[in-house]
Amino acid sequence: MKVFRSHILICGGTGCRAMGSLKVKQALAAELNKQGLADEIRLVETGCNGFCAMGPIMVVYPDGIIYMMVQPEDVPELVEEHFLKGRPLERLLYKEPSTEETIPEMSEIPFFAHQELRVLRNKGLIDPEIIDEYIARDGYAGMAKALTEMTSEEIIKEVLDSGIRGRGGAGFPTGLKWKFAAQSKNDVKYVLCNADEGDPGAFMDRSVLEADPHAVLEGMIIAAKAIGAHKGYIYCRAEYPLALRRLDIAIKQATEYGLLGENILDTGFDLDLEVYQGAGAFVCGEETALMTSIEGNRGMPRPRPPFPAVSGLWQKRSVLNNVETLASIGQIIAKGNE
Ligand SMILES: Cc1cc2nc3c(=O)[nH]c(=O)nc-3n(C[C@H](O)[C@H](O)[C@H](O)COP(=O)(O)O)c2cc1C
Repeated sequence: MKVFRSHILICGGTGCRAMGSLKVKQALAAELNKQGLADEIRLVETGCNGFCAMGPIMVVYPDGIIYMMVQPEDVPELVEEHFLKGRPLERLLYKEPSTEETIPEMSEIPFFAHQELRVLRNKGLIDPEIIDEYIARDGYAGMAKALTEMTSEEIIKEVLDSGIRGRGGAGFPTGLKWKFAAQSKNDVKYVLCNADEGDPGAFMDRSVLEADPHAVLEGMIIAAKAIGAHKGYIYCRAEYPLALRRLDIAIKQATEYGLLGENILDTGFDLDLEVYQGAGAFVCGEETALMTSIEGNRGMPRPRPPFPAVSGLWQKRSVLNNVETLASIGQIIAKGNE
């Protein structure tokens, strides 16, 4: 494996892209080449860093120094100062508005210092289009544990005991929903991910999908094992092209690695996941409308009961969870409910 002196993590989330981060990335690649540094410094495009208002953002490791509002024309000076002369480029560092103090390190900026990342633990750190980077951060460990060491009942108990409640709005206990759907064996069942995110201006689900799509897949595989489903859909709005692209790549890579498809990890468990693009109707975020839409009909809610755990997609038992709910599951299983 190649060892690099430094990693430049350039934010490739939708916010930073809109501010031109891909042009900055191109300029960095060209400048590192020009300076003969391409073998020493690795350029990584990550998901959303979170500090979107200050984009395009880049973080240099191992120093942990963050640069903000970087423009392509800043790149030659930045490379010369930081990577050739070994001193941070002062003018692109963060300045705390209240004190005018310059704070070079990301971990010391108040916006980041108080965050304890769980669902977003990999955001801005890994390349979401490379499955190995997720695995290197203990990704799929929860899934492996669930599939090889736990029964369906044990998985559900762990999720119930964790106390996690749905993050899609209604706050229904996730383990309880799974318990209902797990009842009755040998039936066709579906596991569904709600990535519709219709609330105006909301982008928490998009951030997760763009930064760490495998975390969502991992949660879905665990949910499928818990309820006994072998087919799943991720319903994601078409206005999220980057999230859709990263989901497609993630599904393809997971399938190549034997983490999706037939006989996952040689356990005899099969799961096929598919992305379904929604046309961007707010109401399709509601669970029964979402299912109606996947069925190919106009997305309109249907009366409940029956609830999806009893009669969901194509009248089959289904579990539907929000992106953030599912992205939490792998860690709950890997680390234990407490
Ligand atoms: C009009 C309406 C719109 C909704 N939109 C969303 C949405 O965009 N994303 C979402 O996750 N849940 C949305 N919900 C909630 C879902 O119906 C459902 O409760 C949720 O996705 C279940 O996942 P959870 O238990 O993990 O939270 C919406 C509900 C209603 C009534």
